[in-house]
Amino acid sequence: MQPARSLYCHDFEWADLAATWEQAPPLEGVDAASLGALAQDHWDVFHAKNNGTWTPSRLRPPFRLYRQGIQAAQLLGQGVSGALHLAILIVGDFSQHAIEILRAHEAYDASRCNAFVCDIANDEIDVPDASIDVALVVFVLSAILPGAMDAVVAKLHKALKPGGLVCFRDYGLYDLAMRRSTKRIGSDEADALYFRGDGTLASFFSVQAVADLFGEYFEVVENEYNTVRLRNRKTGTNMDRVFVHAKLRKPLDTL
Ligand SMILES: C[S@@+](CC[C@H](N)C(=O)[O-])C[C@H]1O[C@@H](n2cnc3c(N)ncnc32)[C@H](O)[C@@H]1O
Repeated sequence: MQPARSLYCHDFEWADLAATWEQAPPLEGVDAASLGALAQDHWDVFHAKNNGTWTPSRLRPPFRLYRQGIQAAQLLGQGVSGALHLAILIVGDFSQHAIEILRAHEAYDASRCNAFVCDIANDEIDVPDASIDVALVVFVLSAILPGAMDAVVAKLHKALKPGGLVCFRDYGLYDLAMRRSTKRIGSDEADALYFRGDGTLASFFSVQAVADLFGEYFEVVENEYNTVRLRNRKTGTNMDRVFVHAKLRKPLDTL
């Protein structure tokens, strides 16, 4: 079966985009840790305002897992987006509003889906060790302080069965959102850490950064840039989006 085009788009060369990039200096007086401390409030306000209407599914389709007989999946930072077709779901998001919106979804079935408030950066994942087939980590690590990402990866490793998969999709380095933003945060841990007008954080990943982040615990099955060229018909301009799409497998011989 051919993979869905939208998951694996390659509309332009990432290296060509990279060659045109000029790094702007970070904004003075913005502190990553302070924004990180307020992240939960900022995301909760975001979800309260958008009330589930924020559905950029064109750019972030769920991984096609249901064909693979998946029994249990853990979703992180996944309050409002769709993977409700999977067999058993354990969904964590640290926004109370995001979880309430998901629970109110018509496809939410409490007999096979357990959605709860969980701060993946600071809480333990409340599942037995080695019990999960797949962890969907879709546009959530970018929202977490870079210094907390290693610990999240270690928690995923603990929760997954040997042979289990992390399905990762997130903003790629030089994505349009990064190139348009002037809100870069000076950080010792990451060059590509930005914040939005509403105070939420956004890191932009290179494939190398993803390989480095997961490499200690996982085998890299896939890890590539997806480049998506959208056309703004009104202005006649292109919008070049970059995402990193990766699958990481917990080795069979680890617990
Ligand atoms: C960019 S949104 C992506 C939402 C969804 N995964 C999607 O692709 O549509 C980031 C999500 O991560 C959640 N989030 C951010 N930091 C988190 C954390 N430390 N623990 C749990 N969820 C977090 C936010 O509440 C928000 O719902």
